[in-house]
Parts: sequence; C-alpha cells; structure tokens
Amino acid sequence: MANELTVAVLGPGGTGGLLAGLLSRAGHRVICLSGEETAKTLRADGVRVRSGLFGDFTARVEADTVLREPVDVCLVAVKHTALDAALDRVPPTALGDGLLVPLLNGVEHPAALRARYAPGLVAPAVIRVESTRVEAGVIEHGSPFAEIDLTGEGVDRARLDASARALSAAGPATRVLDDETAALWAKMSFLAPFALLTTRYGLPLGEIRSRHRDELTALVEETAAVSRASGGPSDPAQALARYDAFPPSARSSMQRDAEAGRPLELDAIGGALLRAAERHGVSVPVAARLVRELRDAGH
Ligand SMILES: NC(=O)c1ccc[n+]([C@@H]2O[C@H](COP(=O)([O-])OP(=O)(O)OC[C@H]3O[C@@H](n4cnc5c(N)ncnc54)[C@H](OP(=O)(O)O)[C@@H]3O)[C@@H](O)[C@H]2O)c1
Repeated sequence: MANELTVAVLGPGGTGGLLAGLLSRAGHRVICLSGEETAKTLRADGVRVRSGLFGDFTARVEADTVLREPVDVCLVAVKHTALDAALDRVPPTALGDGLLVPLLNGVEHPAALRARYAPGLVAPAVIRVESTRVEAGVIEHGSPFAEIDLTGEGVDRARLDASARALSAAGPATRVLDDETAALWAKMSFLAPFALLTTRYGLPLGEIRSRHRDELTALVEETAAVSRASGGPSDPAQALARYDAFPPSARSSMQRDAEAGRPLELDAIGGALLRAAERHGVSVPVAARLVRELRDAGH
C-alpha cells in the first residue's frame, strides 16, 4: 500500500484496540504498547474485533512493552488514571517526529503531553464511539457510529490530513478541526453532565432525565458556561435535546467503571471542569457538589 503508516497504539483497550485492529486490517503497520501479559496475547492471537459497523475480524499486530523505533503516529488510548505510567512506554527520543494523538476524554491532558513531548507533535483527538475491551485483545464495538475529530494547534496540517485520511479509510469517519479548544470542550460539555449524574445516582440516563431533571438542566447550563469561558461552544438547549434523544437505558462509561470497581476518570472530567470554572470565575454549585459527593463515596 502506497500510503502505509506505522502506527503505535498505547493502550490497546476499547478505543485503542478497535483502532489498532481497523488500521492493521487496512494495511498499516501497527505496534501495540502494553504490559507484558497483554503484549503476549496480542502477539499470539492478534486483535479480535466484534463490531456491528465494521464486521467481526482478527487483525495481526506487533506488540511491545515500550516504543523502540520512530513511528508516523502514536495513538494514546489509555484512561487518564493510567496516563502518566503509560507514557513511560513512549520515550520522546523513540517517538522521533511521530505525531502523538491522545484520544482521552478531558481537556487538560494536551498540556501535560506538550510538557513532555515536542508541542508541535501533539495532536489531540476526540472520539465518539462505544467500544469495550472484554479481555486482552478482544474488543466489542457496540455503537452504530465511530467518529473522530482530529485537532492540533501548531501541528503540521498536511500530517493531520494524512492521518485523518488513513483513519477514515480504515473505518471511523475522521475530520480535522482547526479549533482544538472548541473540539475538546464540545465533548466535555456533553460528557460531564452525563457522566457525573449517572455515576452519582447509579441510574441510566432515562431516569436521570425524569427523576433528576432540574439537576441535569442546571449542570448542563453550568458546563456550557465554563465551556464558553474557556473558549469552547455553549449551547445548553442543544445539549439537553441530545440527552433527550438518547435511549433511556444509556449508561456512561464512568458509571460502568464505578460499577466494576475500576478507577474513575473523575478528576479528568469533574475535577477539570471545576478547575476551569475556578480559573474563569464561573459559579458551578451543582458540579461542585456532585464531584464532592463522588469523592466522598471513595471515587
Ligand atoms: N471506550 C469508549 O467507548 C470510549 C469512547 C470515547 C472516549 N473514550 C476515552 O478513551 C480513553 C480510553 O478509554 P478506553 O475505554 O479505551 O479504556 P480501556 O478499554 O480501559 O483501555 C485502556 C487500555 O490501556 C491499557 N493500559 C492501562 N495502563 C497501561 C499502561 N501503564 N501501559 C500501557 N497500557 C496500559 C489497558 O491495558 P490492559 O488491556 O492490559 O488492561 C487497556 O488495554 C479514555 O479517556 C476514555 O474516556 C473511550
């Protein structure tokens, strides 16, 4: 294939494993970076994807515990709680001039990555998908959609475009957006109210909509105000309409993590929201209370 890329995937879980499988199937060289046990499984069995949208398939990938050679792109697909430790697997010298593309939810990780790697190589992306690592190397992609917004202030546009073309051709519709802040806050504005309320009350979205409507409305408005103050979009009515269009059984991934006893991305979502509110002098009483209650509950 003429435009074959070498792509590292740090954290071959729900999102990373799906993209690793799709990119490998499309003919790119894929190197997954993980702990030794997962690497062994991936070397032996490849990435096994079950997807209504992209089909069921197994894709061969390389796997290692640390990046040892330059790549065109390194996707970062660990949870925020594992980010620091995981980045030790990607020494800046090994990355060379490869693009670093974090897919994490949240708004603060790009600055952390730019402090560690060349800022012009950090190209944050937002991914809209529901994909789960059911066991090492086995990925279930359940959503009838998979979309990526790729951004990167100061990143070479031609490289962003080439990466977006490769991703789109492999499966997930990928567009390049100029405004990084807007892209990250658009996702945050939708995610934060959904994640905080469903996790706090342990209820699916339908019951949050009916039993906690006032809190939902207030939290959506608070988040929109913080987004606007941070340079992002602000359309609370549209956000509420999107929640109302979701199936009532919808649960957030933070809620699923809480139910499974896994660490939550509470600081990356709720904590970051409160810090941005504080920085810009925006009052967010509902968000502050929910984050406090979740922390008090041991999260
Ligand atoms: N899943 C989704 O549908 C979805 C949708 C949108 C956004 N996101 C965001 O995408 C990010 C990743 O979420 P995810 O759901 O894909 O997470 P995930 O399924 O938990 O996968 C994370 C992967 O990171 C690996 N990992 C953990 N610590 C590591 C380390 N030190 N070194 C290397 N790998 C390590 C895990 O390895 P093991 O497999 O060995 O445990 C796992 O494969 C999060 O910020 C999430 O909010 C997820």
